[in-house]
Amino acid sequence: MDSILVTGGGALSGEIPIAGAKNACLTLMPATLLSDQPLTLTNAPRLSDIATMTTLLQSLGAEVSSLQGGQVLALSSHDLNNLRADYDIVRKMRASILVLGPLLAREGHAVVSLPGGCAIGARPVDLHLKGLEALGAKLELKDGYVHADAPGSLKGATHKFPFVSVGATENVLMAATLARGTTVLKNAAREPEIVDLAECLIRMGAQIEGHGTSTITIEGVDRLGGATHAVVTDRIELGTYMLAPAITGGTVELLGGRIDLVAAFCEKLDQAGVTVEETARGLRVSRKNGRVSAVDITTEPFPGFPTDLQAQMMALLCTAEGTSVLEEKIFENRFMHAPELIRMGANIDVHGGTARVTGVERLRGAPVMATDLRASVSLILAGLAAEGETLVSRVYHLDRGYERVEEKLGACGAKIERVKSQ
Ligand code: EPZ
Repeated sequence: MDSILVTGGGALSGEIPIAGAKNACLTLMPATLLSDQPLTLTNAPRLSDIATMTTLLQSLGAEVSSLQGGQVLALSSHDLNNLRADYDIVRKMRASILVLGPLLAREGHAVVSLPGGCAIGARPVDLHLKGLEALGAKLELKDGYVHADAPGSLKGATHKFPFVSVGATENVLMAATLARGTTVLKNAAREPEIVDLAECLIRMGAQIEGHGTSTITIEGVDRLGGATHAVVTDRIELGTYMLAPAITGGTVELLGGRIDLVAAFCEKLDQAGVTVEETARGLRVSRKNGRVSAVDITTEPFPGFPTDLQAQMMALLCTAEGTSVLEEKIFENRFMHAPELIRMGANIDVHGGTARVTGVERLRGAPVMATDLRASVSLILAGLAAEGETLVSRVYHLDRGYERVEEKLGACGAKIERVKSQ
């Protein structure tokens, strides 16, 4: 297992290109199952999660080719020959459950392993299943698998999600595109990744309105065609790297950054004393003089403050002037980075879903352990500002969601290197 060694130092300056969104790509790829025509995704990120989804789709008989160094994915589900998504692949990545809706809609049958939980929570899929049942799916849970059937075809319906779920919205939205009649999804997720998926499905011939609002209306069609679609910019990678100059000082331009994708996040950066300017090529971020100020954070579904930036923001607030209160409202166990940051001298008090962070002048480098994707990168951010060396172990978590992190930060002057495991 590789580690990443960060040596804290001075201010960063330079530019970082932002890749296509992991969480958009992981729902755009299964959309190929809805059609027997080719789907081409450009601006795809080069991440291990994308490789996992590729393996899963190929196990179903889909063709997935990675072109131009992984930035273009050519997919085709012309010859699906297996409708069972096995546990040994699904357990590696929860987003695997997103093949269920498309398979069911296209083939009328699917057997998909339940994904199981992960470090940040139990993460059940009950909302996915209830949404598909609302479209007429017959589901049976057996031996850890969902056995799903849609005799005839799925039928359009009005369905209100009991609470906002990104994945459930994506699964049911994809299934509804081939259902007979009209589907209205209420309390739907509004994330940019949902909008990106809807826009790709519309290019494939789907009839969708209201995406990006909490009510999405879909008119089912008999079949979908092919499309070429550019994956939307990764707002979580963007926000993560915006925090690099914020925590070290200096100025960094994030190429491809879009302020509309991170509006709530930018509001908090502004309150903390970080300057964000729109440029012709993206966003330029710099820290005004001295330490940032404490701010309070509550994670919410989009357009609120994203849970996927909570760990990274905590790293910044560990060095702020004053005490910040962070409330994690989306996942039940998403403060595992706190004990690691405390090892670096941070002053954090966690009770349930609330963390109180009192900033310190300087963090101290230490050996720390990554526990999940976003926690791992928060430790790297902390290491950039800490005195001395920080060795982050188990960076396979990191490679799931961040391509070439040491290259991107190293290009801005960070002292960071990957330490290959013996
Ligand atoms: C997506 O996960 C993202 N993953 C997550 O990003 C992100 O944190 C999350 O949305 C929230 O924005 C992908 O897009 C691949 P949810 P998802 O369904 O769809 C509960 C990252 O770091 N819930 O919106 O799984 C669930 O347990 C990852 O890139 C149910 O109870 O999130 C959670 O507490 C981490 N039953 C809450 O709802 C369900 O059927 C929100 O989950 C579904 C969800």
